[in-house]
Amino acid sequence: VKPSNVTHEAAAASGLAALAAWEAIITYGQARAGQKVLIHGAAGGVGHFAVQLARHLGAFVIGTGSPASKEFVIGLGVDQFIDYTSQTIENLVQDADLVLDPMPGPHIFQSLTAAKPGGRVISLLPYDDHDGRMAAVVNQKRLFTHRVVVSSNGGTMKEIASLLQSGVLKPHLSMVFPFAELPLAHSAIDTSHTKGKIVVLGPQ
Ligand SMILES: NC(=O)c1ccc[n+]([C@@H]2O[C@H](COP(=O)([O-])OP(=O)(O)OC[C@H]3O[C@@H](n4cnc5c(N)ncnc54)[C@H](OP(=O)(O)O)[C@@H]3O)[C@@H](O)[C@H]2O)c1
Repeated sequence: VKPSNVTHEAAAASGLAALAAWEAIITYGQARAGQKVLIHGAAGGVGHFAVQLARHLGAFVIGTGSPASKEFVIGLGVDQFIDYTSQTIENLVQDADLVLDPMPGPHIFQSLTAAKPGGRVISLLPYDDHDGRMAAVVNQKRLFTHRVVVSSNGGTMKEIASLLQSGVLKPHLSMVFPFAELPLAHSAIDTSHTKGKIVVLGPQ
């Protein structure tokens, strides 16, 4: 499946995260040209692929991130960047056709508010709706919601490989560690503030 013009490191970075982005934006998000798509965590592993896919489809893409990620996210091609550390996203976006939410806990309520009535909210993490608050908003706004649980999919992987080959999708490898430094890779991921993907090389 790996295109000859894509390195092994770039291909390794484009597995699970790219598949999750595909499921969120295309399979369940059904993003289309002209739609407004809000992508939280746009600088992250899944987020940076999601931005590129939504842009490729012709959507108007809004990405969120911290000031440290602004330049990177804008470089991915977003139409609008929102700094979640200083701006209240729900005040700025209430008409998104699609929202991708990769954040844990009550962050999902920001996404439900940002979606337009009848819109789609796709999450990557589970939310425990024990008090029915989430269901109430979803019903009131007639939202489509889905939590992605990514799984291996050869057909989609071939489509991703084709977009990698043509340069439409570009994985960003912010750090590449030798196998002996695997713990450092884990420490970096644990910060929740890495950009794009981190790759660990196999043992030599
Ligand atoms: N369900 C599934 O199938 C599936 C698949 C893949 C991943 N996941 C999960 O989805 C989550 C995201 O995965 P990932 O690989 O994209 O993670 P990641 O690469 O670690 O994402 C980190 C990014 O999140 C951003 N971020 C952190 N806090 C934020 C906030 N409050 N608002 C907006 N952006 C924020 C950071 O940007 P700043 O530095 O700018 O804050 C950073 O670039 C993880 O919890 C992962 O386990 C689930």
